[in-house]
Amino acid sequence: KKVVLAYSGGLDTSIILKWLQNEYGCEVVTFTADLGQGEELEPARAKALMLGIKAENIHIEDVREEFVRDFVFPMFRANALYEGLYLLGTSIARPLIAKRLVEIAAECGADAVAHGATGKGNDQVRFELSALALDPHLRVIAPWREWSLQSRTQLLSYAEANQIPIAKDKRGEAPFSVDANLLHTSSEGKVLENPAEEFPDYVLQRTSRPEDAPNEPEFVEITFDRGDAVAINGEAMSPATILTRLNELGGKHGVGILDLVENRFVGMKSRGVYETPGGTILLEAHRGIEQITLDAGAGHLKDSIMPRYAELIYNGFWFSPEREMLQALIDKSQEHVSGTVRVKLYKGSARTVARWSDHSLYSEKHVTFEEDAGAYDQKDAAGFIRLNALRLKLIATRNARVKG
Ligand code: ARG
Ligand code: SIN
Repeated sequence: KKVVLAYSGGLDTSIILKWLQNEYGCEVVTFTADLGQGEELEPARAKALMLGIKAENIHIEDVREEFVRDFVFPMFRANALYEGLYLLGTSIARPLIAKRLVEIAAECGADAVAHGATGKGNDQVRFELSALALDPHLRVIAPWREWSLQSRTQLLSYAEANQIPIAKDKRGEAPFSVDANLLHTSSEGKVLENPAEEFPDYVLQRTSRPEDAPNEPEFVEITFDRGDAVAINGEAMSPATILTRLNELGGKHGVGILDLVENRFVGMKSRGVYETPGGTILLEAHRGIEQITLDAGAGHLKDSIMPRYAELIYNGFWFSPEREMLQALIDKSQEHVSGTVRVKLYKGSARTVARWSDHSLYSEKHVTFEEDAGAYDQKDAAGFIRLNALRLKLIATRNARVKG
């Protein structure tokens, strides 16, 4: 009877809105989130009103701080990368959207939520696993899996028949599909579908081409407190402000462009172009501060679970006991991950050039090539190597015997 729709204000979700009204005859409540996608949200309100949504049923919220503080930063404590490269910019936003859909549904007595993800992708899985983990009784409606509108032409005629305004640039085929938020912009489909062809420059939405970036490097200092960035160049800032600032710097210097063929959870491979300017700087800086503050055993253990943690987020299991267990381990590891890192930005690269911390484990006294005043006895290393070599020698001896 009542459904909460994740509504962007764009053509596709406007068609979904109308379709829900027509097909299900239900009251539609819209939720539009500012996740830092860089678009005005008021037009979405005007459009929802025009499509017959009651003013009190239109929810528009700025969730940027919550997004970065409770989703992006916890993920960055893990240095999470899916398949070695993808910083999970879309994946990490879906649980937050789903959470707000569920909360709004509870507030307004809705029994269903709806989203505009297709039946071929990861996003449907992320929305629905998150929603059902938070409210097992909700019904989820995924119009892309239900309706008979299979081509762009059919969608456009449905829009026309239902008085949905179509922006001029949407009349033709959209050149590719974009998803953006404070962490990244992803582009997929259409002109990007052939992975044997280089993506055209116009795909880039928020990053300069490295070859057009300034010829002078720029330095940025990021201060961490227990694994989270808290200041830039000595100035304390909120999580969303920090990411916004790093995006400006990274975007200007062409940092964080990725062209990736990845494995979707539903089984197929897909090619995407990702721009994660601020996130790429943040990952580099976080690794930089961990280098001096994390113990080897702690660091290697958290690194070993990272791929599993990243895969859970990619596959939509943010709200799962196993993700929370890994998060507890990762958060514990960050107790001393505090200090400052200087990163050099230059033509597409972001490289740590200095790091310092009151919590540092780095001991110049031990590592120095100069005289170390008895801090370390080099003779100890001989026995250390002898015992570590013992079983390797036994294996080699056995192998020679058996072969001979
Ligand atoms: N492949 C990315 C992911 O699964 C991005 C998906 C959404 N991107 C888009 N352009 N619609 O996280
Ligand atoms: C979609 O299919 O809606 C976008 C791509 C994805 O979810 O993987």
